[in-house]
Amino acid sequence: MDGNGRWAKQRGLPRIEGHRRGVETVRTVTFAARDLGVRMLTLYAFSVENWKRPQDEVGALMGLLEFYLKKELETFVRDRVRLRTIGRTQDLPAGVQKLLRTAIEETRHFTDYTLVLALNYGARTEAVDAARAYAAAVAAGTEKLNDDSWETFSRYLYTTGLPDPDLIIRTSGETRISNFLLLQAAYAEFVFTPVLWPDFGKPELAAAIAEYARRERRFGQTGDQVKPAAVQRP
Ligand code: IPE
Ligand code: MG
Repeated sequence: MDGNGRWAKQRGLPRIEGHRRGVETVRTVTFAARDLGVRMLTLYAFSVENWKRPQDEVGALMGLLEFYLKKELETFVRDRVRLRTIGRTQDLPAGVQKLLRTAIEETRHFTDYTLVLALNYGARTEAVDAARAYAAAVAAGTEKLNDDSWETFSRYLYTTGLPDPDLIIRTSGETRISNFLLLQAAYAEFVFTPVLWPDFGKPELAAAIAEYARRERRFGQTGDQVKPAAVQRP
């Protein structure tokens, strides 16, 4: 989700106004994705690097997060949205952590649709945390080092139990990954759009999904191998 600041600047508004509009987009896109048949949506809401922003902006973002969680809990329960987080949420303000715990607990049994919030997330931090936990498990003897250990190791990532992303969309014209799901994105398709996050909506999401559907995903194989077999006519 990128471009809130520029959206505000273009209108002569403070950056926080862009973030406020960005939260409305979160709501729109969460339900648009579900309408379009998406089963899981991950939103990169706050990165480990975002703490370096001016203190008042960080404070405003945390305030918005708190406001959003308070407002949406009821909606998540009513609309059967399972909430999860990835990232070092233990370093978020205590009030936010409490709201997250409640929302995760109250929605944990929903299976149709999952919203994953990446909060205080960084892919390198995740790799370090996973390596530490894996090493501890090996030292404790509960885990063995083996030759083909991606399946094992990946269980120590924040995303344990979640599938890898099929499609990653970045808004606002930037064409970078910015430390997002580096390992999980190994075979993801990327769509970059110039649209700023507050202007992103269902039509833009549908267009990105249509673009995704036109791609041929080969996962290291040849085009012939992955093409669906020709329909046999009698
Ligand atoms: C959203 O937009 C970023 C967050 C969710 C923290 P930005 O704040 O990065 O907007 P730009 O890049 O300044 O336009
Ligand atoms: Mg940005």
